[in-house]
Amino acid sequence: MHKDDYAAAVPFYDLWHEDGHVPMVRELLPLLLQGVRRSVLEIGAGTGLITELIARETPAEIYALEPSLGMRSVLLSRLASDPSTLRRVTVLPYGALDVEVDEPVEAIVMISVLQSFDAEERAALWEVLARQLEPGGRLVFNWRERSAPVPGDLEVMGSYQVGRHAYEVAGQVLEAEGESVTTRFVYRVRQHGVSISEDEVVLTNHWPARERLVSELESAGFTPEPAPEGMEVWRLP
Ligand SMILES: C[S@@+](CC[C@H](N)C(=O)[O-])C[C@H]1O[C@@H](n2cnc3c(N)ncnc32)[C@H](O)[C@@H]1O
Repeated sequence: MHKDDYAAAVPFYDLWHEDGHVPMVRELLPLLLQGVRRSVLEIGAGTGLITELIARETPAEIYALEPSLGMRSVLLSRLASDPSTLRRVTVLPYGALDVEVDEPVEAIVMISVLQSFDAEERAALWEVLARQLEPGGRLVFNWRERSAPVPGDLEVMGSYQVGRHAYEVAGQVLEAEGESVTTRFVYRVRQHGVSISEDEVVLTNHWPARERLVSELESAGFTPEPAPEGMEVWRLP
């Protein structure tokens, strides 16, 4: 069974990420998927915020891979509310390193997932993804250079009104070493300012520097294509 690091985040996820990377991806991804008509593999589909965008912007069949039971449950609920999308999205309930699609796809989309893989896992990831892509296929993901974070105090990163309650996400960098950053996240529900529910997760994410990323992708046979700031497009020749 997959260790579900995202379980505590699920009720907060759509609220918080509408404030984060999702609006930028909604703006930039459609152009990068132009011409894709047959098939897309989405790695780490989460609650389906990007899946529904891919479905809207392309007529393609979609494989939406998501290992977290909690995230995948919301993804399926989202798909169930739109029967025509539901018919063309196959949900794969496991991690990216286990994926083998029936036929190679035209495009792979991976939004805000790369940080889940450490350097060793990334080497395996690029090989697996290269195998899933047809020749000339494109790999699209988001990435930006980050300055090294400094360990500090717990800070509220977002607070969202849901009826009479406030849903609050707080984070604290505990440790940063090389490309790896360990962060403590606290997910709280407040009523009249008082916490009535609280879950905590400690996650280690990995943020490779550009040089390293380029060398990994090139070693796996990918070549870069022009892409707007914040996004990456790599092709298999
Ligand atoms: C920050 S969320 C992004 C979700 C979605 N792509 C979005 O942008 O809204 C990261 C997702 O990656 C998934 N994930 C973590 N490890 C993974 C792995 N090994 N293979 C595939 N997905 C993974 C998590 O379960 C989570 O749903």
